[in-house]
Amino acid sequence: MLKHPEQPIIHGADAFAAMRRAGRFTADMLDYITDLVKPGITTGEIDRLCYEFHKKHGATPGPLGFHGYPKSICTSVNDVICHGIPGSRVLKDGDIINIDVTPIVDGWFGDSSRMFYVGNVSKQARKLCEATHEAMMRGIRAVKPGATLGDVGHAIQSYAEGLGYSIVRDFGGHGIGRVMHTVPHVLHFGAPGKGLRLEAGMFFTVEPMLNIGGPEGKTLADGWTVLTCDRSLSAQFEHTVAVTDTGYEIFTLSSKGYHLPPYGPG
Ligand code: MF3
Ligand code: CO
Ligand code: CO
Repeated sequence: MLKHPEQPIIHGADAFAAMRRAGRFTADMLDYITDLVKPGITTGEIDRLCYEFHKKHGATPGPLGFHGYPKSICTSVNDVICHGIPGSRVLKDGDIINIDVTPIVDGWFGDSSRMFYVGNVSKQARKLCEATHEAMMRGIRAVKPGATLGDVGHAIQSYAEGLGYSIVRDFGGHGIGRVMHTVPHVLHFGAPGKGLRLEAGMFFTVEPMLNIGGPEGKTLADGWTVLTCDRSLSAQFEHTVAVTDTGYEIFTLSSKGYHLPPYGPG
C-alpha cells in the first residue's frame, strides 16, 4: 500500500499524459450518458450503463467497493448534496441530478461530475446549476503557481454567496492521481492568500456544492447519501485539474462542449 504523502506530489510529463487519458475517458462517459438522462430511467440503470461503459473500454469504476461503496457512480437527485447511491429511484420531470464518475484508466483516476436536467426544470433549479458551474470555473481560473487554495476557495465562495447560495463545508475537493483521494483537501470557501501555495505539477479536483438553503447536510442510514438538512435543492459540478507553469489545465473537459445543461447536439 502506498502511504498518502504529507505534501502534494509534483507530477511530471508522464503523469500529465496519463491524466489526460483518464480525464478524457471520464468526460466521454458523462457525454455518453447525457442523452439517457430523462424521465422514467432509474438511477440504477444509469449506473449499470456506466459500469458497462467502463468494462467495454478496459477501465475500472473507482467508487465500486471503495470503503464498501456498493455502486460504480454517484447519482445525487434534487436535495441530495452528494454520494447518492444509484438504485430504484425513477427520475421524473423537473428533477435535477448530479452524476459523478471516477474511473481508473491505466492506474490513474479521473473524477468529474455534472448536473443534468430531467425534462423541464424550474427556473430556480436552472439558476442554481448555472451558478454552481460558474462557481467551479471561477475557482479553477484562480489556479496558477504562486496562488493559494484560499484564493481558489475565496473565488468560489464570494461568487456563490453573493448570489445568496450557501457553500457546503463538510466535503471538499482532493488531490488525485494514482489514488482517488489524497492531499490537498480543497475547500470551496476561504480567504485570499491563505492555505497551500500551488506549484506546477499538482493535481486536484474542484467540486463545489451549492445549496439554495443552508449549508448543512446529514447522512442517511445507508451511510453514504448526504441530504440537505432543510431539504433545499443542492447542485455540484466537478473537474479534475492540474497546476501548470502558466495556470491550469482541466483534464475532464467535454470534447462535445457539454459544459452546462441543457446539453445536446445544439
Ligand atoms: N467521486 C467522488 C468524489 O468526488 C467520490 C466517489 S467515491 C464514493 O470525490 F465512494 F464516495 F462513491
Ligand atoms: Co472528487
Ligand atoms: Co467525484
